[in-house]
Amino acid sequence: MAKTDPEHTAQRIAALEAALAEREARIQSLESRTSGTEAHRAVIYGFAQLAESRDDDTGEHLQRIRGLVSAIANEMVRQGHSHPNEPDPLTADQVDLMAETSQLHDIGKVSTPDAILLKPGRLTDDEWVQMRRHTMVGFDILNAMRQQWPEQDFLDVACRIALCHHENWDGGGYPLGLSGVAIPLCARIVSVADVYDALTHRRAYKEAMRHEDAVRIIVSESGRKFDPLVVQAFSAISEHFRDGGVTPLRLSA
Ligand SMILES: [Fe+2]
Ligand SMILES: [Fe+2]
Repeated sequence: MAKTDPEHTAQRIAALEAALAEREARIQSLESRTSGTEAHRAVIYGFAQLAESRDDDTGEHLQRIRGLVSAIANEMVRQGHSHPNEPDPLTADQVDLMAETSQLHDIGKVSTPDAILLKPGRLTDDEWVQMRRHTMVGFDILNAMRQQWPEQDFLDVACRIALCHHENWDGGGYPLGLSGVAIPLCARIVSVADVYDALTHRRAYKEAMRHEDAVRIIVSESGRKFDPLVVQAFSAISEHFRDGGVTPLRLSA
């Protein structure tokens, strides 16, 4: 029978206690990160619903955008394609953050008058100027939050999406007229998702378009309105989007 060495036993107890303390610390850190994630999910959801409730009281557009962004971004990661001078290449870790935050893209529409937002018909030039302001207003709201909580990554992503989701790959968009990879990648992905969803669903001012016609329009705008690599990923999986049944769960499989 092995002889019990008191010094050796004390060392083993100390090592066990250290391992337990380390495990406890890891659990606590995980718990606080999880509750932080839940908290920012709740903020995103509430804010996004607020902006969206005026022209889509079901909030389904936001759910679909989240699903579309998640699917397109995952496909981009899977394809592993990236522009040679991409300043912020996509990683798997960023996909969820981007998809979640994409729901805030139109938060600035809180400032757009109903008479413009819900107008059944073409907007005048002056109304377009007001409509386009939602990008800057959204950025200002989220940027004010970011200054208060600079450690919150999702606010950084949200600012980029709100400001740049109407920029065009060829520089013809708004509000800044950015082009190519100068437009944040998250905003380039949201742009494709947002246009596809807007085309395929009814709004106060237009009827819904068929899936294949919407896909054709998006493909035809590759390199003009949209980033060709985002369109490539979108096209590869576009059949999943038919019939509007896109949800993150359905597409993550
Ligand atoms: Fe928008
Ligand atoms: Fe939208």
